[in-house]
Amino acid sequence: MTEPIQIHSQKSKRRASLRDKEVFGNFEKIIEGWYWALPSKALKRNKVKPLTMLGRELIVYRGDDGRARIMDAYCPHMGAHLAEGSVDGNGIRCFFHHWKFDDTGELAECPVQEKPPRASVKSWPTEEKYGMIWLWAGESPRHPVPYIPELKDGPERAMLGNNFTKGCHPNVMMVNAIDEQHFHSVHPLASSLANGLHFEISSYNENCQMFDNSNCVPRNNLLNRILSRFYENALTYRMVYWNGSTGSVTVGPDFWHFHIIFALRPNAEGCAEGQTILVTNKRTGFFGYIIDKISLILSDIVGSYFAKGDTRVFQTMRWNFKTPIKADRPIIQFMKHLQKQKTLTWGDWESLEASNQEAEQGQMIEESRAAEG
Ligand code: FES
Ligand SMILES: [Fe+2]
Repeated sequence: MTEPIQIHSQKSKRRASLRDKEVFGNFEKIIEGWYWALPSKALKRNKVKPLTMLGRELIVYRGDDGRARIMDAYCPHMGAHLAEGSVDGNGIRCFFHHWKFDDTGELAECPVQEKPPRASVKSWPTEEKYGMIWLWAGESPRHPVPYIPELKDGPERAMLGNNFTKGCHPNVMMVNAIDEQHFHSVHPLASSLANGLHFEISSYNENCQMFDNSNCVPRNNLLNRILSRFYENALTYRMVYWNGSTGSVTVGPDFWHFHIIFALRPNAEGCAEGQTILVTNKRTGFFGYIIDKISLILSDIVGSYFAKGDTRVFQTMRWNFKTPIKADRPIIQFMKHLQKQKTLTWGDWESLEASNQEAEQGQMIEESRAAEG
């Protein structure tokens, strides 16, 4: 009688350990990539602020040259928090004994010693785009800051939308946009259009995955027949994901595309911290400016419509994808793609150990799922 129970428990353990290795929804694994840090406007020149993101204590400051920099928070001398200090040129000076670190984090001055000892603070690659400061979680950036593919070459205008926190992992919120079934149940306005969605899946690089609808508007009712006149080919509905945590959606008729970026990051409390960013192509002249502003406000309304219907479920759900069905294919593709990405160990970026075994583990998880039927 005991044997089957042992077999069962070994199988359960194996399942649990495989789930630990799964990247999707795993707060212990940070996928290497760009994450939003702080709105640019919130950081004035020559100011320093504390910043906690992805479970790590950091500082962000803007030097004399106007550039934002992000470093670890604690001074390597005795551990004073560097946000208590002050910006000096393009470096940061600790409050406690006035050691100064340059913009690469190397100790540049030690007031009581001519030759400063060897000491440094970890500095992180930092960029600004769309009115937002971004941090590259990893050693050196291997990909550009998230962008809207169709606006890549042109000038853009951006506006920040809502800032929010939801009680689930960013990956769980991200797949919402490719969860065809829920359009019918949660977003009635999009329901009849969703009948015709079919995603072509591709990627620009290993960090980025694109889901592009390739079907035309279904001509199943009068409203859709009218709508179909505004699309020469497929209904525009495109999701582009960056490290599974930032996603841009492009929707709208051929003559007017709306672009909404949902920038998310996991925190140490098991939540997703998010910021929406509205983007449009920049038009010239005064009237161009007015049209841009209208476009950004409309994009905000479209984004809020999609975000609003799901708010309740994200506060309480516990992700447990036990019974995938055919309609969940895009979500499974998303999970597979994440499994191949390079990850950092949660709360321990110092080691920066790349998990090259992730692809193998992904294969194991798939095999395990197949075996479970
Ligand atoms: S603790 Fe920073 S200089 Fe001493
Ligand atoms: Fe939704």
